[in-house]
Amino acid sequence: MTRPPTLALFGRKKRRGEKIVMVTAYDMTSALIAAAGGVDALLVGDSVGMVVLGYPDTLPVTVDQMVHHCAAVTRARPGVPVIADMPYGSFHVSPRETVRHAIRLVKEGGAMAVKVEGGRRRGEVIRALLDAEIPVMGHLGLTPQSVHKLGGFKVQGRGRGAADLMLDEAAFLEETGCFALVLECIPATLAGRITRALTIPTIGIGAGPETDGQVLVFHDLLGLYDGVRPRFVKRYAELGAAAVEAMRVFAAEVREGRFPGPEHSFADEPDRPAGKRRRVPGPAAPAGGRGPDAPGYLASLENGRGGEE
Ligand code: KIV
Repeated sequence: MTRPPTLALFGRKKRRGEKIVMVTAYDMTSALIAAAGGVDALLVGDSVGMVVLGYPDTLPVTVDQMVHHCAAVTRARPGVPVIADMPYGSFHVSPRETVRHAIRLVKEGGAMAVKVEGGRRRGEVIRALLDAEIPVMGHLGLTPQSVHKLGGFKVQGRGRGAADLMLDEAAFLEETGCFALVLECIPATLAGRITRALTIPTIGIGAGPETDGQVLVFHDLLGLYDGVRPRFVKRYAELGAAAVEAMRVFAAEVREGRFPGPEHSFADEPDRPAGKRRRVPGPAAPAGGRGPDAPGYLASLENGRGGEE
């Protein structure tokens, strides 16, 4: 039986020197694809604002939107921990209001933990979240919610003073009780220093190879988003280009009368036209989560779609 996912994997992997693989997900399909690919954890990032909702940055994203996307991810039962971003404005308020927002992400969104951008100045709200039994992932470096204060999307922590300050902030987040720390867009040497200084794992994005794990945005990794293309993104596929080509072929086939064919059409009698895909029963979901190695992941995507006779 698949064991229910827990956050214990973060500490365990750091102790064992095993890399942690995290990716963002925003809906059921992205969650299932990432889980089937074997990632260790999913982050419902507020990057949803840029790669899904069409905003120029993450600032407009609301708690309602995060709850909506987080619930879609957890309904997939991906079998790995799901962490939800606290969006801008949701924790820049009183600790009481912050906790109320985070509880929505847990109760309605199904998140196991939340991520909060910032260091020492977030101490009070992080303690309040932990008091409410909500585990917190920290986030330092280029924190996109501070884009205007930082003067743009720029590398952070360059120079001795800035590096020492970030090391101090990282130690603070560990002492306060964060279970892991995202380091975004900082020099690789600084990320290595922070990683060696902490007992909690660091997860880098644009922070070089010495962190305990890596995270990328789903749409960046798969070549689905062309808006901003930071240097730290490696595209492992060009699905955007493949999707455009598929659309082009679909449009041409419709216009030329080549789609739908007999295999996509229904007869008067409920006989099965040759070539029609047979519906197979989906796998019984294991208690506690589907798990990336569960059979039938693709079948579960295909089943339940329309076309029943
Ligand atoms: O919102 C997001 O996707 C993030 C990751 C880039 C760490 O915060």
